[in-house]
Amino acid sequence: MGYKAKFRIWRGEAGEGALEDFVVEVNEGEVVLDALHRLQATQTPDLAVRWNCKAGKCGSCSMEINGKPRLGCMTRMSTFTEDETITVTPMRTFPVIKDLVTDVSFNYQKAREIPSFTPPDNVKPGEYRMQQIDVERSQEFRKCIECFMCNNVCHVIRDHEENKPAFAGPRFLMRIAELDMHPYDVADRKNAAQEEHGLGYCNITKCCTEVCPEHIKITDNALIPMKERVVDRRYDPLVWLGNKIFKR
Ligand code: SF4
Ligand code: F3S
Ligand code: FES
Repeated sequence: MGYKAKFRIWRGEAGEGALEDFVVEVNEGEVVLDALHRLQATQTPDLAVRWNCKAGKCGSCSMEINGKPRLGCMTRMSTFTEDETITVTPMRTFPVIKDLVTDVSFNYQKAREIPSFTPPDNVKPGEYRMQQIDVERSQEFRKCIECFMCNNVCHVIRDHEENKPAFAGPRFLMRIAELDMHPYDVADRKNAAQEEHGLGYCNITKCCTEVCPEHIKITDNALIPMKERVVDRRYDPLVWLGNKIFKR
């Protein structure tokens, strides 16, 4: 059975805007993105909302629904009561372009700052041999759809704009951890994670893990093991001795 749902949606451009109230019809089985599309079709043709797959796989429709980062296409209207007002706002950590669409180029910049997979010189393509356990370990991280909701929710940059230059965010610290776990990657990921990409800023609040639509255990399986390896390296007597000798 259809009903009239109440929405409060942030509308504006470049940081200037306000919440506006709408009433829109929704039908059984619909998601928040369906309601936004009906609003576009019937009342607000210029409402800006980014989306692509409507199947939870492209990562485009990230927004905040009742204050929580969610995918609009995967948030069922049946999770709200019919008399509830549903508040929809753009992701808070990134600058607004228009309405619900944010400029997520911070994330692409951070991605570019991480050197790609770096195999040893003496192993040619086709000669890589990996144990199944190493394949499986990184498989979880490769489910990432780059919705950037983990970076959006992390308080290190959500509440502190000034930390952005020094912090890659959970999505990309996870990428560094994935590369560090790769048996054929020879780049120094540990020092880079700590000194260039801000691993030390993470105080394992796990908000990133809670919002991940792919249910990746970002904190437990990527960030904490990476922190442990950084500590191991710092307290490894051989590494310590090597640093002493080579820094002279
Ligand atoms: Fe989104 Fe999860 Fe990837 Fe973060 S790790 S960008 S929350 S899919
Ligand atoms: Fe931020 Fe996740 Fe760490 S939310 S503080 S990166 S555990
Ligand atoms: Fe692709 Fe929502 S539209 S994840």
